[in-house]
Amino acid sequence: MKTTKRLIQIYTLAQGDALWDIGCDHSLLALMNLREKKFSKVYCVDRSKSSLEKINQKIRVIDPLRIEVIQSDGCLLNWEDVSGTVVIAGSCPEKYRKRLTWVLNPFTSVDKFLKEIVQFLPETVMERYETKENGRVRQIFKYPATE
Ligand SMILES: C[S@@+](CC[C@H](N)C(=O)[O-])C[C@H]1O[C@@H](n2cnc3c(N)ncnc32)[C@H](O)[C@@H]1O
Repeated sequence: MKTTKRLIQIYTLAQGDALWDIGCDHSLLALMNLREKKFSKVYCVDRSKSSLEKINQKIRVIDPLRIEVIQSDGCLLNWEDVSGTVVIAGSCPEKYRKRLTWVLNPFTSVDKFLKEIVQFLPETVMERYETKENGRVRQIFKYPATE
C-alpha cells in the first residue's frame, strides 16, 4: 500500500504530540511516523480486526512507545484520553460518498474545514445553512448525494 500525496498532506497538517488515526486501515500514518518521527506516538484505531492485522504484518514487533493499536469504533473511544491530532480520513469509499447525503457541522476551524473538504466532497453541490445555538452561529454544510 502506497503512501499517497493525500496522506502526506494529512500528516503535514497534523500537529501536537500524538496522532490518532481513526479508521487507520493500513496504518500508513503510523508507518510514515516511524520514518519521520514527528509524533511521539500514533494511535491506530480501527473497528475492523483484519484492518489492524495489516500493521502487525508490516512490522514484526510494534514498539508500544511509538504505536498503539486499538480495535474500537471511533465513536466509542474514551475521548478524555485523546490528545494531539485526530485524523478521520477516507472512511467512506467513493461509490458511497456519491450515493450518500452528507451533513457536516464543524464547530471550529470552519475556514480550514472548507478548504480541506473540497478534496473529498464536491464544492459545486454544497449547501450552507446557519443555526444559532447558545448565542453562537453554527454553520451546517450539506452535500446532497450526486448519484
Ligand atoms: C477507506 S479506509 C481509510 C483508511 C485510511 N484512513 C486512509 O485514509 O487511507 C476506512 C477504514 O475505516 C474503518 N472504519 C470505518 N468506520 C469506522 C469507525 N466508526 N470506527 C473505526 N474505524 C472505522 C474501516 O474499518 C476501514 O479500515
